[in-house]
Amino acid sequence: MTAERARITVFDTTLRDGEQSPGCSMNRQEKLRLAQQLDRLGVDVIEAGFPIASDGDFESVKAIASVVRRPIIAGLARACRPDIERAWEALKDAARPRIHVFLATSDIHLQYKLRITRDQCVAQAADAIRFAKSLCEDVEFSPEDATRTEPEFLCRVLEAVVEAGATTLNIPDTVGYTVPAEFGDLITTIRQRVKGIENVVISAHCHNDLGMAVANALAAVAAGARQVECTINGIGERAGNASLEEIVMAMRVRPDRFAYETGVVGEQIFAASQMLSEITGVPVQPNKAITGRNAFAHEAGIHQDGVLKNPLTYEIMTPQSVGVPDSKLVLGKHSGRHALGIRCEQLGYQFDRRALDDIYRRFVRLADKIKHVEDHHLLELIRDTHKPSGSATPLIEKIVPPQAAVVNAPAVTPESAPEPTKPFPVGPQTNAFGVPLPGHGDSHHEQTQQEDYLWGV
Ligand code: KIV
Ligand code: ZN
Repeated sequence: MTAERARITVFDTTLRDGEQSPGCSMNRQEKLRLAQQLDRLGVDVIEAGFPIASDGDFESVKAIASVVRRPIIAGLARACRPDIERAWEALKDAARPRIHVFLATSDIHLQYKLRITRDQCVAQAADAIRFAKSLCEDVEFSPEDATRTEPEFLCRVLEAVVEAGATTLNIPDTVGYTVPAEFGDLITTIRQRVKGIENVVISAHCHNDLGMAVANALAAVAAGARQVECTINGIGERAGNASLEEIVMAMRVRPDRFAYETGVVGEQIFAASQMLSEITGVPVQPNKAITGRNAFAHEAGIHQDGVLKNPLTYEIMTPQSVGVPDSKLVLGKHSGRHALGIRCEQLGYQFDRRALDDIYRRFVRLADKIKHVEDHHLLELIRDTHKPSGSATPLIEKIVPPQAAVVNAPAVTPESAPEPTKPFPVGPQTNAFGVPLPGHGDSHHEQTQQEDYLWGV
């Protein structure tokens, strides 16, 4: 009999904390596209941005709130009225809005950054939560720099915000300073000392300055946290945030140690990682766990031999379980549109027939030159083909209404325009074994099927 597993809420902050990392800023269209992929990935909460930070971010949060309807959409606000009002303005059309309020609590932040006393800090936090709660039922509070805050004082602030109506208490290790046992103990202390804690969700938000963000987040979960805040590819301020894919797969690969479950669809992880990297132009470190290009590569002879005999010899999870394209599917000049289309989908792109034809023509020319077309070549080619439309919008499943789809279609330039359809040089209409193909009528459907066949589908 398998033991009951606790459900962990996955709070993705790629579009907020992740976006704050150098070189990772995204415009509205890019954020919306990634938010739709996060939805497919099955995250529970998308932190879409920091609405007061800029008009662009405000518009991004607003757009995501109105288009992405399944997950909770959160917006960040400092503990002051203008921030909270702006966040609510951006979020109010969401199906499930959340206002996320933060205020630093460590002495070093109070003294040097905020220049307020501890008493002022408690009052400001509680006032802010009361105001946020008057606008939105779902309110999260984060005591910034919690892990360098005196625990006694931290519990005092937390108790005040629970009383004011906070529904999630997020505990940030803002500077990536804590270590797993210590962070687990802090969560235990909070659970023991904060009045009303049983009515709220405890969350962990870990940074990676000492390379322990994922270990710290898992330690918090083991101590009773039920939400983890994380980002795709672990992007984020400085050394980044805890990586979503690493947390989720640690739970999946080691249920004996981490008996928790999430709503994440493992097979969508690689597409999310590739899309983020393509949008930001920031490549994934090759040896990055789960999503790096070497994560499932075996070069050493002994390893190759073992993996060929039984993949379990050197693989603790299958590449397919995280959506990494089957490495046996080598793309070269003999590949057809079917294989190309599948690989594009695995990389996070879905093309309609004409767009795929267009990509395919360029792909064949490239394959002629370089033999094996790797994923990064293909991504470059896709980007290049759809250059005029910026971030290649049409690629992902369209959820826009038909009229809007026309607006979002890739701009057709002489370069990217599909060649006029010519009668296809089909010759004798037989299949690969010389058997005549059924029906030689000239309907578009039949021609399309023959094209598929002849193009190597
Ligand atoms: O790291 C941090 O403290 C944050 C808060 C705003 C949650 O990102
Ligand atoms: Zn952070």
